[in-house]
Amino acid sequence: MAQDRTSPMESSWEILKKHHIDEDVGFALPNPLEELPDEYNAWILIAKDLPELIKTGQFREEVEKLPMLSTDDLKEHDQQRLAHLALGFITMAYVWNRGDGDVRKVLPSNIAVPYCELSEKLGLPPILVYADCVLANWKKKDPSGPMTYENMDILFSFPGGDCSKGFFLVSLLVETAAFSAIKVIPTVLRAVQQQDEEALQIALLDMADCLKNAREVFKKINGYVDPNLFYKVLRIYLSGWKGNPELPEGLLYQGVWDTPRQFSGGSAGQSSIFQCLDVVLGIGQTTGRGPAAEFLKDMRTYMPFGHQEFLSFLESCPSAREFVLSRGSANLKEAYDKCVQALVSLRNYHLGIVKIYILDPAKKQSREEETTSEQSEQGNRGTGGTDFMKVLKTIRTKTMESLLKDR
Ligand code: HEM
Repeated sequence: MAQDRTSPMESSWEILKKHHIDEDVGFALPNPLEELPDEYNAWILIAKDLPELIKTGQFREEVEKLPMLSTDDLKEHDQQRLAHLALGFITMAYVWNRGDGDVRKVLPSNIAVPYCELSEKLGLPPILVYADCVLANWKKKDPSGPMTYENMDILFSFPGGDCSKGFFLVSLLVETAAFSAIKVIPTVLRAVQQQDEEALQIALLDMADCLKNAREVFKKINGYVDPNLFYKVLRIYLSGWKGNPELPEGLLYQGVWDTPRQFSGGSAGQSSIFQCLDVVLGIGQTTGRGPAAEFLKDMRTYMPFGHQEFLSFLESCPSAREFVLSRGSANLKEAYDKCVQALVSLRNYHLGIVKIYILDPAKKQSREEETTSEQSEQGNRGTGGTDFMKVLKTIRTKTMESLLKDR
């Protein structure tokens, strides 16, 4: 089919390239750097050695000894991403240390100043985000080999053994599997623009298959992440300082702001993939008010600029859902529903995972410790600081309500 010069397809692929969306790894950073110019070596060394330094009780002391560095020599995007990742790990570990309640409410200026400078350059908040710990925290063991769990590793980890590796890499693999659904978006947009029902039907079915595959990849989490370690260890290090009673005011970034700031912790809720699919399918997750819509809107501010702009671009495109509704063809509606159903199914699977990795261990812990209701309420908060079950169920229900089968 001849391509219109001004088609949404063409401009969307331009936007993909321009805004750090890669044709192979999608929203993930392709081939992340592992080293920075020599002067920044101390950041990398401390971040790499983090589990050991925490174990031996030396971590905070080592961080406090670091010199104040200017970020001026970090000119390349990939260098800035690696520095943001390393400083993110250092910051989380500095605040939570052993994860035993000994919390720091002030981030020293030797870390806070360069971290906030870099965050501003990247358009990211000064806290470890999904774009750091999942999208930029990976490498292939054999560079010419495939992107499989066996051939991959992470660059930085928290205490808790292989839990970080399992959680970050499986998230990345789900992300890259689901990206094959994002690759179909230009075809969807073009089919809507050209009012080509058949092309749209094929594209939607293709998208549904990609999502089914992503759900299969998600299952790997059970083999690689231990629920107890996730709940008791990794979840603590990913926790933020927004809506968190342990830092009710937030964190004071010394030398940057005079008052503490609140930021949500790292969560796959910051992935652009699911929000892109919601927008393309016209699910309208962020159009209303309420905690779920507010949560998803807020999570966009934790994504790299380019990815946020890509979402805005998709919102400005003609609606696939409106087109399907206006045509009323049974086959087209069925293809659309297969896609929505695949997204519902992915979200249902995710809810099941949340039960295994947060709700069940929280219950077990409160039985063991006879915790107060206030403490177990804290266990029911996600790393993003949300009352997550209500939010996740609202998002899932909203997805289900988009099904057209009875219309
Ligand atoms: C041990 C595994 C996981 C747990 C315990 C978990 C937990 C959570 C929690 C509690 C939230 C609510 C937001 C917050 O407060 O952080 C959330 C949101 C979310 N998570 Fe996960 N998550 C896990 C793995 C994943 C993976 C592998 C993905 C996909 C890459 C994912 C995708 C999402 C998305 C997209 C949201 C936003 C809600 C939505 O759009 O449905 N999660 N997750």
